[in-house]
Amino acid sequence: MYRLARPALFRLDAERAHGLVVGALAWASRSPGARRLLGAAAPSVDPRLGVDVFGLRFAHPLGLAAGMDKDGDALPAFAALGFGHVEAGSVTAVPQPGNPRPRLFRLPADAALINRMGFNNRGAEALAARVADWRTRGAIDVPIGVNVGKSKVAPLDAARADYDASLRAVWPVADYLVVNVSSPNTPGLRSLQAREPLSDLLALVAELRAELGPRPTLVKVAPDLEAHELDDVVELAEAHGIAGLIATNTTLSRPGLRADPGEAGGLSGRPLAPRALDVLRHLRRSTSLPLIAVGGIDGPAAAIERLEAGATLLQVYTGLIYQGPALIGRILDGIAAELDRRGLASVADLAVSPPPAGAPAPRSGSLR
Ligand code: FNR
Repeated sequence: MYRLARPALFRLDAERAHGLVVGALAWASRSPGARRLLGAAAPSVDPRLGVDVFGLRFAHPLGLAAGMDKDGDALPAFAALGFGHVEAGSVTAVPQPGNPRPRLFRLPADAALINRMGFNNRGAEALAARVADWRTRGAIDVPIGVNVGKSKVAPLDAARADYDASLRAVWPVADYLVVNVSSPNTPGLRSLQAREPLSDLLALVAELRAELGPRPTLVKVAPDLEAHELDDVVELAEAHGIAGLIATNTTLSRPGLRADPGEAGGLSGRPLAPRALDVLRHLRRSTSLPLIAVGGIDGPAAAIERLEAGATLLQVYTGLIYQGPALIGRILDGIAAELDRRGLASVADLAVSPPPAGAPAPRSGSLR
C-alpha cells in the first residue's frame, strides 16, 4: 500500500507528508480495530530474533528511531506495524515550535534526508500524559523509549536543570530513557558531549536513579565525534551507570552526495551508513555496554552488518520514509534467513566477538 501512496506523498512538502502519515497513524492508534488491521499486515516474528537487554524483553531487535513520533501520538500504530520497540521524542522540558519551515528535505537520489527541525514538540509533561494514557488503554505491547533533549530557551550552563525537569516528567512512563546530546539543530547541544558537561549530566542521571528508582538510561551520540571523544563518552557512561549507547544521530557532514541541496541540518539515511557503522565498531571495541545501531539501515544486509559489529538492537527512520513499513518485514526475514544459513540459534550469535583487551585495535575506517 505504501508503494501506491508514496508518489503522492513525495509530491507534497516533506514535513506535510510526514504530518499526514503520522496523523493517520495517530487516528489508527486510538482505535483497537484499526490497530488490529495494521497488525494483520505486520510480519510474523521468528522466536530466534528475541532479545533480552536492559531488563526488558524485545520480540526482535528492530525499533523506530527517535524523531518520527516526537509527541508519541502514533506509538501504538508503529508498534502494531511490527516494530519491536518504539522511541518517542526528542521532547524538551519547555514545549517549543522548532525552527522555521521548510526544515525537512528529501534527497531521493541519495535515499537520504536533511532536517533542521529543532526539537518541535509539545513538551515532556504532555508526552508523559500521552504515554500514560496509551498504557492505561493497553494500546502498546512493546518497550517504549523516551528520548529527551535540551529546551532551546535553556542556556547551555543551565542544561542540567532543563534535563532534570524533562527526565523527571517522563521517568515514570518510559521503559528506557535516552539522553540526547547529539542533535545538530539546537545551538550548542552537541557540546554537551564533551567531558565536563557530560559528566555533570550523567551524574544527574545517577542521582535521579537513586531518587526515582532504576530506569535504563542510554546516551545517543553524534556520528561526527572523533575517536578520543567517543572514548570519553564511554568512560563517563560506564562511570555513571549508563545502560547503553545509541549510535548514531544525524551528521553535519555531506559524505559523497549525488545531489546536495545545500540545506543546513543533519543528514540521515544511506550516506550516513558507513560513518554510523564506523562509530558502532569503535564503541564495540571500547565497551561491553549494549549498543543500539541507527543510521542508514535500509535493508537486511545493513541490519546484519550492524548485528555482526556488535549491535544489540537496531533502529530506522529514513529507510521507513523511502520504503514504508514493508522494510520491517524485509529486515526481519533477512535476519532469520541469515540465522538459518549459518545454523545459529539466536540473533545475539551474529555478533562477532570483540578482540580481547590489550589486543591491537583494527583500523576503523575514517575514525581517528
Ligand atoms: C531525527 N533524529 C532524531 N534523533 C533524536 O535523538 N531526536 C530527535 O528528535 C530526532 N529527530 C529527527 C527528525 C528527523 C526528521 C530525522 C530524519 C531524524 C535522528 C534519528 O533518530 C536517527 O538517529 C537518524 O535519522 C539516523 O537514522 P536513519 O534515519 O538513517 O535511519
